[in-house]
Amino acid sequence: MLIHSRAGAVSAQQAKAALAADPRLKLVERAIKKFDARGDALLEVLSTAQEAFGYLSQDLMRYISLALHVPLARVYGVATFYHLFTFKPAGEHTCIVCLGTACYVKGAADIVSTLEGAYRVKAGQTTADGKLSLLVARCLGSCGLAPVAVMDGGVVGKETPGDAIGRVATLIGAIPEAQR
Ligand code: FES
Repeated sequence: MLIHSRAGAVSAQQAKAALAADPRLKLVERAIKKFDARGDALLEVLSTAQEAFGYLSQDLMRYISLALHVPLARVYGVATFYHLFTFKPAGEHTCIVCLGTACYVKGAADIVSTLEGAYRVKAGQTTADGKLSLLVARCLGSCGLAPVAVMDGGVVGKETPGDAIGRVATLIGAIPEAQR
């Protein structure tokens, strides 16, 4: 499908390319497929996107608009109507831990609870200083690498609680209070 903008025709493929190889997009694609790319699944797909990315970027909304064959204005309309949607990343950095079955059985919940304790933040929330958003996802489609985390868009496989703390510390440039 093509839409026309001032810059010319934009395909769903181009809109998708703008999101690069972000593994979180797989969750959105899966939701789109689950609903056979039906326009009436817009709210469900937006919810999945919000949960996976922590916010709805313009590229993401454009991609959803094209994939569901719904005008971009309608996507914006629905997204701005419901308070559960946000349009900016809450924290400067994002760490998403997969809690899908494969990751869960390999200890992903320990990674989440370790990060929660170390950075005094609950999953789904952002630290008081706004440096880190800790999010969880159901399956990032890389189950062979379980447990999987995505740190600022980069996939990390076979993660451990200790390594996750170190990686997040590097990411945000601060060691957790609990370890000072
Ligand atoms: S369950 Fe974690 S990547 Fe599939």
